[in-house]
Amino acid sequence: MSNRVEPIRSVKGTRDLLPPDTSLWQSVEAEAHRVFAAYHYGEVRTPVLEETALFARGVGADTDIVMKEMYTFRDRDEESLTLRPEATASVVRAYIEHSLFNLGGVQKLYYVGPMFRRERPQKGRYRQFYQIGAEVLGSQNPLIDVELIEMLVLFLERVGIREYQLLLNSVGCPTCRAAYLEVLRQALQAVKAGMCEDCQRRADTNPLRVLDCKVVADQPVIEKLPKIIDHLDPECRQHFERVTSGLKARGLAYQITPRLVRGLDYYTRTTFEITSGALGAQNAVVGGGRYDGLAEMLGGPPTPGIGFSIGQDRLILAVQAAAVLQPGNPLAAYVVWMGEAALAPAARLARELRAVALSVEIDYDPMKIKKAMGVASKLRARFAIIIGEGELASGKYQVKDMGSGEQTDMEPASIGSYLAGKL
Ligand code: HAM
Repeated sequence: MSNRVEPIRSVKGTRDLLPPDTSLWQSVEAEAHRVFAAYHYGEVRTPVLEETALFARGVGADTDIVMKEMYTFRDRDEESLTLRPEATASVVRAYIEHSLFNLGGVQKLYYVGPMFRRERPQKGRYRQFYQIGAEVLGSQNPLIDVELIEMLVLFLERVGIREYQLLLNSVGCPTCRAAYLEVLRQALQAVKAGMCEDCQRRADTNPLRVLDCKVVADQPVIEKLPKIIDHLDPECRQHFERVTSGLKARGLAYQITPRLVRGLDYYTRTTFEITSGALGAQNAVVGGGRYDGLAEMLGGPPTPGIGFSIGQDRLILAVQAAAVLQPGNPLAAYVVWMGEAALAPAARLARELRAVALSVEIDYDPMKIKKAMGVASKLRARFAIIIGEGELASGKYQVKDMGSGEQTDMEPASIGSYLAGKL
């Protein structure tokens, strides 16, 4: 009797990404590397583990992320560490730690990697998820906001996303926001009794968060609340107007969304999201905005910044729905050998083809030709290369196009360039 133990499963809210899906993930990442490099961004890789204080200070101690969603633990030396819930705070920490401000000019950085938030898992929402993000440090110029959005849109279109909306807002600076919050708080006093319990509490503790409320009955009330873009000071208003006129000048469509205040505390001025109709409830694919005070909050010199993060898991769902990029079928050839004497030449050929970056498969167990050809079609190989006694004697191998059935005899040395030309 076998004594099988219970299999261990992946942790709730995390998942394994497997082939062929991973080839789609790779294509999307390759496009990000290409597009971001064209805009002169350099890649940064920061640790997944950070001191908890980084997010408490950067993202904000009062936010849902910090209060409810972080994976925080005490290390063996009692230090409080956190698996990063986002990467903007980490990028700004690295910018300060390595004095990148001394390099002069604007720093343009991007990253790809896993983030961790303990949210309720559902389609498009995971506890370990992936982001592709970009950050620009050292410029307040509204044309930087415009260029960043232009790059984002180019990237989305390159990976086949056509149906999306750019939602845009400004949350002002700490000075005009404080004045707006007073106006909002007062307006809420008059209406909060008819709102949900959470909103009644938020009306006093954090009135901005009322604007994020999803309770249906509260929506008509929220729609009538004062809007932050009507309370911007002259500098913030002018900045916003320059962003919108810049977007128009470049033909980038947007929709001003006064309720878009975003769930992280570091934002100033421009905020934006990109949503996609293809995604259902979790429809925000990208979130971003300015954070002109963040570097100072983290102990660095005053440095304006702006960036975005694309939710890669959701992006992949949208890419699959758009069906432009397909998971690749990278297998160029399956090498079939008949008889012990053919094994070594077959293995040599596989090695030569792989060395010129052709994807090749070979089985080392002997097989009848019929079975081997069955394997070649199951693997969806573009070509089968057959080496038996006859081929060894003539010095020419059979190269079979699995699609057309066409068969050609070729010297081993010519097969690599022949396949490369056909793929
Ligand atoms: P965020 O809005 O919190 O912003 O996240 C950006 C995107 O990450 C979301 O729009 C969504 O696509 C994805 N995302 C967030 N949580 C999850 C989850 N649990 N499962 C799957 N996807 C998720 C930020 O993180 C900021 N760092 C953006 C930024 C960069 N602002 C300035 N620079």
